[in-house]
Amino acid sequence: MEIDIVMRSLHQLFAAVWVGATVYITVAVLPALRDGGGSTEFVERLSSRFTVLSITSVVVLLLTGGHLAGTMYTFDSLVETTRGNLVLSMTALWFVLAGVLHAGTKKLDAGVSEGRLREPASEAYPWFVLGSLLGVALLVNGVLFAYL
Ligand code: HEM
Repeated sequence: MEIDIVMRSLHQLFAAVWVGATVYITVAVLPALRDGGGSTEFVERLSSRFTVLSITSVVVLLLTGGHLAGTMYTFDSLVETTRGNLVLSMTALWFVLAGVLHAGTKKLDAGVSEGRLREPASEAYPWFVLGSLLGVALLVNGVLFAYL
């Protein structure tokens, strides 16, 4: 019982922090870099912190989500019920989001390590827009558990 509360709390916390950080980079950080703000050292630091946060979130969400799925669902209920299908779609979106954010961060890091800022920020931007949309879709997916 207590372990379930801890797992669900960590799951919600990391979902909120991961998606929130992704949306903030999309609407605030990348547009500022495209407009010529910031230095390469500053962006390298921001990017490496985001990478740590992102990898931690990927792992914590997999472990906590796996625990919740393992204790609340069977293989049959995952496949045959609407809530089970929501868990499967959440897992698929998690996988795609991790890949999209990895690609976006790599685009940014590659340019910044060559001393550029505006172009890599522009190249990373579409990936982060997609990541933000996937993140919001994941949160809505989570909300639907309360109604289906
Ligand atoms: C391997 C990846 C994941 C698995 C296996 C997983 C699994 C689950 C399960 C089993 C639940 C509880 C379902 C229920 O109450 O019946 C849940 C809830 C939820 N998940 Fe995930 N999840 C994953 C990734 C994510 C990600 C990436 C996010 C968002 C970024 C997320 C956000 C949520 C939210 C907001 C809830 C609702 C929590 C609540 O109502 O208490 N999950 N997830």
